[in-house]
Order: sequence, then structure tokens, then C-alpha cells
Amino acid sequence: MVIIPSDNKRPPGDNNRTHSNPVEEKRFVLAHLSDPHMAWAGPVNKRDLLNKRLLGYLKWRLFRNTGHREEILPILKEDLSDTRPDHIVITGDLTHLGLPAEFKKARTWLQSLGTPSQVTVVPGNHDAYVRSDWDRTFACWLDYMRSDPPCRGGARVRGFDDLFPTLRVRGRVALIGLCSAHPSAPHLAIGAVGGPQLKRLAATLKQTGARGLFRIVAIHHPPLFGIVSRRRRLTDAHALRNVVARCGTELILHGHAHRVVRHTLNTRSGRTPVAGVPSASSSSPDHQRRARYHVFTLTASEDAWNVHMGQRVYSPHAHCFIPEKEQYHRPRDHWTLRAAF
Ligand SMILES: [Fe+2]
Repeated sequence: MVIIPSDNKRPPGDNNRTHSNPVEEKRFVLAHLSDPHMAWAGPVNKRDLLNKRLLGYLKWRLFRNTGHREEILPILKEDLSDTRPDHIVITGDLTHLGLPAEFKKARTWLQSLGTPSQVTVVPGNHDAYVRSDWDRTFACWLDYMRSDPPCRGGARVRGFDDLFPTLRVRGRVALIGLCSAHPSAPHLAIGAVGGPQLKRLAATLKQTGARGLFRIVAIHHPPLFGIVSRRRRLTDAHALRNVVARCGTELILHGHAHRVVRHTLNTRSGRTPVAGVPSASSSSPDHQRRARYHVFTLTASEDAWNVHMGQRVYSPHAHCFIPEKEQYHRPRDHWTLRAAF
């Protein structure tokens, strides 16, 4: 049985600081957050709005004080520094309109959370709102996205095709990043992984599985049917599910749905948990959509991995993050998967 502190924080006396903490051999704590939707309130170059962004910009101006509250982000950061995870995964939509100024702002926020080796980012559809200059946008986060060295594309990364899937190995955990983000028509927020990336994913899953690593796949769009509307779906979700079913995956993390999602997928590894987290900056009155982050504690035993999912949710009354109330926890927050080692 895995005993986890009820508030998902490290026990008193555990003085290992997150960011200098070597990954424990048998226990790994991972924080998952998503969709902070950081917007740029300063002047915007008119040329940057002569496209799909114009509609998004007008909508944001109209509803800027509802939905996302960026003042929640520094509070979340403070809470994370108490939680001290071994690693942080952010599943996209760091920006709202994919503006170069938003990318720079998000870069500063990422640096406040940790170094590139401590934080892994995959892009979301809002980050790829329109086709944009790589050097003014995604290049800002390259070191938070790219694989451990030596990596594909080397120093000459010019786009997603040179990067994804990414692979970062921390202790006995393999963090595999997928890109489902691409520009789409106004009113659409669809995503796709694409055949070449799926082919490389299958190879990565097989290699890391053969090494006995706990494989975590991070993607912005949910890979399951019915989680989001048709106009926001992952168009090749079926093909992605086939790859993970065939090759095995121990945990799948996603964003985009802006609510708590807990499901499982039957894969070679058993019943693989699929978990989505609400926006990290959401001030929604709907409890299941309010800002939070998930804390996964992975514990290796003789022949299995135990996975526990805890939640830290924003309390608008206390202006801080608190453990999710017991009534919202379910038996499905605990999983046991067959170990490959
Ligand atoms: Fe999204």
C-alpha cells in the first residue's frame, strides 16, 4: 500500500529541495499543470492581428476579467515551491493568442518555475494560433521542450517536425512530449499528431519500455473521444490510441479540456490512466474547472508501479491552493500498473 501525505506535500523533515533533489530511485513526484493562457495587455502590433488573432483579441478584451486570472499564477508558483515535485509538466496553451510578447512573458514564468531540465513543456493550439515566426515564438521555449541531448535536429531546430516526440529521462521515468498544436481556421481548435510523429512515438515507446522505464506521454489535446467538442478534438486520436495500446504507456497527461478528466485506456501496460487538468489560471465558479494542478506520486514496488493522483485547487476565499476535498477523490485516483522491469 502506498502511503501519501493527505495534502500531497512532502512530509516534515524531508528537507530535499525540489530543484536540487536527485530523483529518488523508487519514488518520483510529478506536478502537472496546463493552459495558463497568459495574455499580453500592452500595445499590440496591428500586423499581428490581421488574421485569426483579431477575433481572439476582441473576445479577450471583452471577457478579460472573467475566466483566466493571471494573479493566480504566482500563488500557484508559491504552492509548487512547497510541494517540491521532482519534475513539472505543462501541457500547452501557455499563451492566449500566440503573440511574440506572450511567448516572452511565458518564458519568464517558466524560468520562475524551474530550469529547463526541471520543467517540460508541450505546445497547445493557442500557442500555435496562427503560423508565426519560429525565432520570435517557440524558440523562446526551446530548451523547455527539447529532448535530452543528443537530440533530434541538434542546434538547427526550425519547427515542430525537428523536435517531436521529445524524450527526457529522469531516474526511471521517461517523459515523452507530443505536439498536437497547429494553426486552424477561426472557431476551430482542433489538433493532430500526424503520421510521422506517431511512427517516431511508437519507436520511442518501444525503446523506453524495453529499458523498464515508467512512460509518461504529455500532449495538449485529449486522446479520448467525447472529452471536448468536435471542433476542439484531436483529429487522429484513434491512431494515437492504437499506438499507445500496441506499445504500452504508463500514464497520459493532457490539457485543453479546462476541467478535471480521469479515464483509463487499455494498453499493453494494463489500464493506463489518462488525466486532464483545468487551466492553471482559471477563476471559474465551477469547482471542477477552477485553477489547480495535479500531483502524481509514482512508486515502484517489486513488480508494479503504484500511481497516486492528488490535486491542489485554488481557493478564491483563502487566495491560496489547498488540497482537493475528500469528496472529490475517487478510487480511480490510485492505479497499479505492471512493471516492465
Ligand atoms: Fe487548448
